[in-house]
Amino acid sequence: MPSEADLAHRPLAAHASGPLAGRVRVPGDKSISHRALMLAALATGITRIRGLLEAEDILKTAQALDALGAPVRKSGEGWRVTGRGVGGLRAPLAPLDFGNSGTGTRLMLGVIAGHDMKARLTGDASLSRRPMGRVLAPLQQMGLEVGDNRDRLPLNVRGTSHLVPITYELPVPSAQVKSAILLAGLHASGATTVIETAPSRDHTERMLIYFGAQVQTVAEDGKTRITVKGDAELAGRDVTVPGDPSSAAFLAAAALIVPDSDVTIEGVLVNPTRTGFYLTLREMGADVAFLNERLEGGEPVADIRVRASKLKGVTVPAARAPSMIDEYPILAVVAAFAAGETRMEGLAELKVKESDRLAATVAGLVANGVAARAQGDSLIVAGAQRVPGGGAVATHLDHRIAMAFLTLGLATERPVTVDDTTMVATSFPGFRTLMEALGASFQAGTP
Ligand code: S3P
Repeated sequence: MPSEADLAHRPLAAHASGPLAGRVRVPGDKSISHRALMLAALATGITRIRGLLEAEDILKTAQALDALGAPVRKSGEGWRVTGRGVGGLRAPLAPLDFGNSGTGTRLMLGVIAGHDMKARLTGDASLSRRPMGRVLAPLQQMGLEVGDNRDRLPLNVRGTSHLVPITYELPVPSAQVKSAILLAGLHASGATTVIETAPSRDHTERMLIYFGAQVQTVAEDGKTRITVKGDAELAGRDVTVPGDPSSAAFLAAAALIVPDSDVTIEGVLVNPTRTGFYLTLREMGADVAFLNERLEGGEPVADIRVRASKLKGVTVPAARAPSMIDEYPILAVVAAFAAGETRMEGLAELKVKESDRLAATVAGLVANGVAARAQGDSLIVAGAQRVPGGGAVATHLDHRIAMAFLTLGLATERPVTVDDTTMVATSFPGFRTLMEALGASFQAGTP
């Protein structure tokens, strides 16, 4: 990872582009990639993973598991993990550096909690600003010790092989918190239950079952109770990671806003806990089709075909936020081209992502001549047929802000420049090449 001092040096400008066309694949899903590595390390035997996202965030998780005694190696076309069994990891000799990755940090805290070991966790400037108390609170109830009662990285923690099972209702809608507790629950002596009031991505539950854990999901009174049985035994399995719908979202958005485009993105995860963005696009009048829907490795997958469309503004309800939480910056970009106003509600969680995405999205849009504003936890964008562009966007170490505004510039009257593209590698290596293959035009910009 480059140091923060280097970050001002990779600006890029996106220019108005001709119709985008073609069939492409996006890299593997980030959420599933993290989970595949972690469950593989906690299983006994070998796990082979195909389609793993080879991006900075995931490589940090791989390195951390390696340092905890579960070798993760590239092997042929995929990756091979030698699992150590639940409770079988060993203390790291050096601090574990999670770079920019909130998911890696929070889920690994759940893994570490069940091991009798000390660990120090560190991250970059963006990650060190993000709240960790949301995972530490339940994990402390289970027995994790946290040095100096901190809730930000760097953190010194001590796990225990005697975790206590808990029942915990999530105070924030977060798949990361849910997953950290379920992963810790594997080591507890008894059943651990997480209660969700808004359903969030369920990859941990699905993959735990796939690796042989006992997990039960029960919906009642508008809530979901997910229970994992402790003292679990997992067995190494082969995993195939589908394409990331959050990465595909940038290509889909570009195809919608660049006139006459027709793009198909193959093999994308379409798990309903992740497809709120595509549902919203359809409500806006977008021509978005899920073709060839199938199940791959226990997850629904489709080829997504998107054609440039006339769009109208909509209200996106707060209840939909968990199923599209990473897609609001790019939805706001699409909304800039829709007739009328788009209101996105219930976005408190956006403020604690890799950057304050609510503020960064508004600032980027306003800098490019779009009437956008935040109102409490809502984001409101007034669309127009022509968007001026010409602005410079501050990305604040946030990959999705960078990619969202590079997408905007493909359809604005004047180029849009982002101050730094370094962080794109945390989730979507090859973003620029893939977009260029479809016909997008980028040029190295000036800071
Ligand atoms: C993720 C959950 C989401 C999302 C993140 C990945 C996961 O975070 O923003 O990119 O893999 O569980 P929260 O669960 O904190 O909302």
